[in-house]
Amino acid sequence: MTTFRLNGREVTVKGPDDAPLLWAIRDEAGLTGTKFGCGIGQCGACTVHIDGEAVRSCSVPTGAVAGRAVTTIEGLGGEHVLQKAWIETQAPQCGYCQSGQIMQAAALLKTTPHPTDAEIDAAMGGNLCRCMAYVRIKKAIKLAAGQGARA
Ligand code: FES
Ligand code: FES
Repeated sequence: MTTFRLNGREVTVKGPDDAPLLWAIRDEAGLTGTKFGCGIGQCGACTVHIDGEAVRSCSVPTGAVAGRAVTTIEGLGGEHVLQKAWIETQAPQCGYCQSGQIMQAAALLKTTPHPTDAEIDAAMGGNLCRCMAYVRIKKAIKLAAGQGARA
C-alpha cells in the first residue's frame, strides 16, 4: 500500500510496493492517458513527472513515490501550452506515444523555457514514436516555447 499525491490529490493504492508505478496509475487510479509501451524503460510512452522530473513509470516501483507528487498527462489539464501547440501543429499520428512525449517536453520547458534544437533532441531522444512524428513534435515544442512554428 502506497500513499502519494497524484495530480494534486492524495491517493492510496493497494498494490505491492514493488509493482510498477504505471500499474498503480492505470489500473488502480484509473488514469489511462499514460501508456504502456516496452515496459523496460526504453520507449518513453509511460513518462510521468515525479516531483517535477520526467521519469519512466514502468520502471519505478510504486513504493518509491510514497509521499511524493506524481503528475500524469491528465494533470496538465488540457489547456497546457504544450497541449495547445500539439493540437495546432497536429503533432500526433496514432497518438500512442504522445502522452509521454508531452510529459517529457513539459519537464524540458520547465528547466529550459527556450530550448535549442540540440537541447530538444537531447531531452526527447528517449521518447520513441513508431509513426515517426518527430518533426511535428519538435515543431510543437518550439511553438509552445514561443519560438514560432519552425521545425
Ligand atoms: S513503457 Fe515505460 S519506457 Fe516504455
Ligand atoms: S504518434 Fe504513433 S507512435 Fe507516436
